[in-house]
Amino acid sequence: MERARLGSLQAVKSKRGTAPLELVSNSAAQTRKLGKVLGELAAPGDVILLVGRLGAGKTCLAQGIAKGLGIDEYTPSPSFVLVREYQGRVPLYHIDLYRLDRLEEVIQLGLDDYLYGRGVSVVEWADKGLSAFPKEHLLINIEHLAATKRKLTLVAKGSRYTDMISKLKTKF
Ligand SMILES: Nc1ncnc2c1ncn2[C@@H]1O[C@H](COP(=O)(O)OP(=O)(O)O)[C@@H](O)[C@H]1O
Ligand SMILES: [Mg+2]
Repeated sequence: MERARLGSLQAVKSKRGTAPLELVSNSAAQTRKLGKVLGELAAPGDVILLVGRLGAGKTCLAQGIAKGLGIDEYTPSPSFVLVREYQGRVPLYHIDLYRLDRLEEVIQLGLDDYLYGRGVSVVEWADKGLSAFPKEHLLINIEHLAATKRKLTLVAKGSRYTDMISKLKTKF
């Protein structure tokens, strides 16, 4: 039943506990599907940090998360829009740090109202200011392997996110 939902997404490494979960996605649709499941598992206050180069699939994953939060009209913003809010089952705060260069700039944005707010924060280019984010978060690194192949490494920081990854594993 649930198995069919993510079954086609290949889990490369899936150890117990806090070890990173490595997945290989073979299409944008698979990445969106993973995002959708994450969005379904997400709760108010969750922080999901996305790291990966241009074209890795961060926005694609964010799109899926939006869907899982019950947001139908998700339209990615141009990269000069730093924060965009969407209304769903839980609000989504989509934060894109592409334009920023330094940690101080990230801190000056004053993101705490979002990061410690009632919504789910999804941050693209989170590596531009990792120390500006809550210690507890889900970090997802996306690596370009081939034209339509990506490796996604999910690292849980904190029990809330370890729990989230455990639940995600039951969807395979
Ligand atoms: N397996 C995959 N996962 C995610 N995106 C993929 C995949 N295969 C191909 N793509 C394509 O790669 C691009 C990713 O773009 P985007 O999500 O905007 O990246 P980013 O936000 O990281 O710059 C899209 O054109 C998407 O269709
Ligand atoms: Mg993007």
